[in-house]
Amino acid sequence: MKKLRIIIIGGGNMGAAMLQALLRVKGMSPKQVKVIEHNKVKRDQMKKRFLVAVHEQILAPQIRNADVVIVAVKPQDFFAVAVRISSNLPKHSLLVTIMAGAKIQAVSSATGCNRVIRIMPNLPMAVGQGFSAWFASQEVSKQQKIFIKKLLVAGGQQIQIHNEKMFDVITAISGSGPAYLFLFANNLMHAAQRLGVNKTLARKMVLQTLKGSLALLETSATSPAKWRERVTSKGGTTAAALEVLTKGQLNKLWLRAIRAAAHRSQQLTVFLDKDLRK
Ligand SMILES: NC(=O)c1ccc[n+]([C@@H]2O[C@H](COP(=O)([O-])OP(=O)(O)OC[C@H]3O[C@@H](n4cnc5c(N)ncnc54)[C@H](OP(=O)(O)O)[C@@H]3O)[C@@H](O)[C@H]2O)c1
Repeated sequence: MKKLRIIIIGGGNMGAAMLQALLRVKGMSPKQVKVIEHNKVKRDQMKKRFLVAVHEQILAPQIRNADVVIVAVKPQDFFAVAVRISSNLPKHSLLVTIMAGAKIQAVSSATGCNRVIRIMPNLPMAVGQGFSAWFASQEVSKQQKIFIKKLLVAGGQQIQIHNEKMFDVITAISGSGPAYLFLFANNLMHAAQRLGVNKTLARKMVLQTLKGSLALLETSATSPAKWRERVTSKGGTTAAALEVLTKGQLNKLWLRAIRAAAHRSQQLTVFLDKDLRK
């Protein structure tokens, strides 16, 4: 495969995670990648850690030479990026977006590029354990799809979807999902400390419990509900905790939370469409 010239715009949490996956792709050299990042601290960190060129501003000649441009800024920063990209991105080039709520159609009309791939990745991509769903516009070539698949496989698991509407729920579940788990881990660690356990032991207990439980789920066909039943003896300690959670209507709360995230994704789509039409 040709040595692609790749630009990542936005070197924050997800831009860095995408970069890490990219550098794991076989045959990829840091020399092929440029990152554009506003923030000096992040720029210096990225240069040092990943040995890639990191620039402060998007420059037209860079875009004109790019085979792939990955947009990893917040949706509200996209308009400024689109202005710099449009009319400079070569016709054959691929535009990749990971922004929540940004529909292919909106990205395409704001940049004038019709070869667009929309991805919803998640943060564990940084350690090769992410989950990414992706959707390609009709004009994306077979070679470009193969490249994106390679990149996402280097970041964990991937699935190509064929209905863009699914992005709202995917964003709510796997895109935002790591934050739910971090919150859960934090609550468990905090509770352990409140009950007299030191911080180091609390962290160790919680991390290994999460890891071990996930391994059970991964290595058997048993559902999470069945596993929960198995470890909950009547009148036991687990049952006592679960009773409190059930009384607090945790299940309903989860559904409400996921619905709120999916709704926010729809709202971002509307805001972005309006913003780009101005
Ligand atoms: N975080 C997640 O778990 C996650 C998961 C899936 C998808 N996403 C999507 O990924 C995108 C990025 O999220 P994030 O969490 O990585 O955000 P982030 O950490 O804020 O990173 C975005 C970075 O881009 C920089 N930036 C903004 N406009 C720029 C420009 N014109 N040129 C150069 N740099 C620019 C920002 O700098 P300043 O802050 O200085 O402006 C910031 O450092 C979002 O659209 C989000 O929807 C995020």
